[in-house]
Amino acid sequence: MAEELSIAQGVEKAQKYEQLLPQIEGLISGESNMIANLANVSAALKQTFNFWWVGFYLVEGEELVLGPFQGPIACTRIKPGKGVCGTSYSEKKTLIVEDVDKFPGHIACSADSRSEIVVPVIKDGQVLMVIDVDSEQLANFDEVDQRYLEELAQMIANRA
Ligand code: SME
Repeated sequence: MAEELSIAQGVEKAQKYEQLLPQIEGLISGESNMIANLANVSAALKQTFNFWWVGFYLVEGEELVLGPFQGPIACTRIKPGKGVCGTSYSEKKTLIVEDVDKFPGHIACSADSRSEIVVPVIKDGQVLMVIDVDSEQLANFDEVDQRYLEELAQMIANRA
């Protein structure tokens, strides 16, 4: 396993994702422990994009519980249908929020968060967890992030 990520600087984010995803695959393919893998995936995304907050909420019973992440401390439990994460979980789909203040029920774990993307990790029709990424800039996420984070979600589902 490569111990260091190699990502070109000064390139567009799609190119960064293109470089990052195979390296993440290499990182997680040799390890069966999901928490270890999610911890490294969080770190790899943080290191590459310097996201404000990036991590996972894991499905436990009927609710989401905070998993491995990078960034400021966060709320630990989210009910289905609540906030961006709980809505993505309930609706089993990716949500891009350009301005969190305009999302009804947004859960403000950090007052500095301005935009957000949440991607469910789905296996056999069941949501196992969600990937949550927050930015301190408005409208920081678009269909490029969606495309590659959904690819990442599939990669994680395949290891689950
Ligand atoms: N803002 C999220 C809660 C999680 S934090 O952003 C880390 C939401 O509305 O679901």
